[in-house]
Amino acid sequence: MKYYKQVKLKNGKACIIRNQNCEDSKEVLQHIILTSVETEYMLSYFDEILMTDEEERTHLSNIEASPDELLISAVIDGKIVANAGLSPVSKLDKCRHRAEFGISIEKKYWGWGIGSCMMSAILEIAGKAGYEQVELEVVTDNQRAISLYKKYGFKIFGTNEMAFRCRDGQYQSLYLMSRRL
Ligand SMILES: CC(C)(COP(=O)(O)OP(=O)(O)OC[C@H]1O[C@@H](n2cnc3c(N)ncnc32)[C@H](O)[C@@H]1OP(=O)(O)O)[C@@H](O)C(=O)NCCC(=O)NCCS
Repeated sequence: MKYYKQVKLKNGKACIIRNQNCEDSKEVLQHIILTSVETEYMLSYFDEILMTDEEERTHLSNIEASPDELLISAVIDGKIVANAGLSPVSKLDKCRHRAEFGISIEKKYWGWGIGSCMMSAILEIAGKAGYEQVELEVVTDNQRAISLYKKYGFKIFGTNEMAFRCRDGQYQSLYLMSRRL
């Protein structure tokens, strides 16, 4: 699936929201590692991100060619500062109407409105792709993300207690959220 849009952020900065392609592989990997270090809300620890540049290139090429998956980046001054993705929950017929969503933004750029721009792009594309429902999981104390999701119509439909066991021995719960299209 394809997407390209130029937007003006709250602070007047120009931002391009566009598909990732194989040329982005190094920057995308750096972004994934950085955001895993910067927040406690991601699924992986930075040292668990073991994908090589070559593997990431292949992954991005496959996603770019896929009719039901999408990876987009927000680019400011030529630099990737955010990533978001949409993928089917399952390829099985009974679940093909459901998509999963994920997002990460470099901390320096939080509060600029990038999350809102990407969310809006994802919902637009998900509708065009024929999905009927978008789903996500979010750590229950990730207030900023929860506010973003509620602003775009997502509702909490459940809680997965003890979903993450952190290396310090603490557990994190996840809200399960969904939005009809
Ligand atoms: C969560 C995240 C995607 C939000 O992106 P963002 O670009 O900062 O969001 P925006 O600037 O578009 O703000 C979106 C909404 O969040 C809410 N918000 C903003 N700052 C907030 C804060 N400090 N506390 C609570 N809510 C806040 C507001 O409702 C805002 O909407 P508004 O600007 O219309 O008032 C981003 O902070 C991030 O990538 N965090 C780390 C990774 C992560 O947590 N990913 C989600 C995993 S499920």
